[in-house]
Amino acid sequence: METWLVTGSRGFLGTNAGVFLQGRARLVGQARVSAASTLYERIIALDLRDAPEMARLVREVRPDVILNSAAISGHETSANDPEQAYAVNVVAAGAIAEAAADIGARMIHISTDAIFTGQTGNYSEDDEPEPFSYYGETKLAGEQAVRTAVEDHLIVRTNFFGWSETGRKSVLEFFVNSLRAGTSVRGYPDFIVTSIYVQSLLDAIWRLGEAGASGTLHVASSDALSKFDYGMLVAEQFGLESGLIARLGPDPGAHAASRSRDLSLDTSRASGLLGSPLPTQEQGVAQAFADEPLITPMIRQP
Ligand SMILES: NC(=O)c1ccc[n+]([C@@H]2O[C@H](COP(=O)([O-])OP(=O)(O)OC[C@H]3O[C@@H](n4cnc5c(N)ncnc54)[C@H](OP(=O)(O)O)[C@@H]3O)[C@@H](O)[C@H]2O)c1
Repeated sequence: METWLVTGSRGFLGTNAGVFLQGRARLVGQARVSAASTLYERIIALDLRDAPEMARLVREVRPDVILNSAAISGHETSANDPEQAYAVNVVAAGAIAEAAADIGARMIHISTDAIFTGQTGNYSEDDEPEPFSYYGETKLAGEQAVRTAVEDHLIVRTNFFGWSETGRKSVLEFFVNSLRAGTSVRGYPDFIVTSIYVQSLLDAIWRLGEAGASGTLHVASSDALSKFDYGMLVAEQFGLESGLIARLGPDPGAHAASRSRDLSLDTSRASGLLGSPLPTQEQGVAQAFADEPLITPMIRQP
């Protein structure tokens, strides 16, 4: 069994990776604060901005694969603390990649659809990135830092939904929590993404690894949906009241990142390598519905 070192192991993707990789890999996690985990063999406390300590950790664990899911992962959080966003999303990503190269580990680095402007949509790997936020700028620079430092890399540009460790991080939870509480929500008809169910994303990354894929790939759902249509789909699948979802854009005061955009990704290169299309958002929501009783108790650990 390979050893995987997962950075950001207590975050949304990191906890889901802990679930997906059970029985598939020996799992060591990194987080800023250590904690007992039933998903990871151990979680090592480390601030990734401490490059020498991080390199020492990588030499000690000697993973076959490093999954870098740590990031300052929001538009607003990055804008509010640009120094930290640059330190984690660019400098630390590069330092992790250098450490991976030093020990001959493969690096899987998670990037985002937000490296594109969102003016046209259906972006392929050959389209020119042009981020619209500081977060996107740091993620794009982080990709470059990884490419430069480690030859054996897979950079995954994505957007995902699912069950998170806090129960409040993902767009799925936003709709499910609000509709279960009987609260009206805005549906953003002009914000379009190819969001993939996080467990399907991890499955695709796993299979792309088995297929020997490398370089930069778009791994997302095979269909694009607006947030309004996604909300309607969630309501239908979960048996909730779709009338609570208003076909409205964001509040006038919302962050610029929420304005009208089409950030959909063209996944044909990844699906060609996988030999089948990536799941649709409807398939992902149905899987999330089926997984809820199984996955949420595993993820929402103390
Ligand atoms: N969520 C999405 O839909 C989405 C979409 C596109 C791309 N992505 C990308 O996917 C990746 C995972 O995102 P996510 O949603 O799982 O984010 P998340 O829940 O915010 O998790 C990120 C993790 O990074 C860790 N981290 C941040 N700064 C750190 C530091 N200085 N030292 C050590 N650890 C640090 C945090 O650790 P602590 O828990 O210790 O604070 C956190 O657990 C990111 O690269 C993000 O850019 C996410």
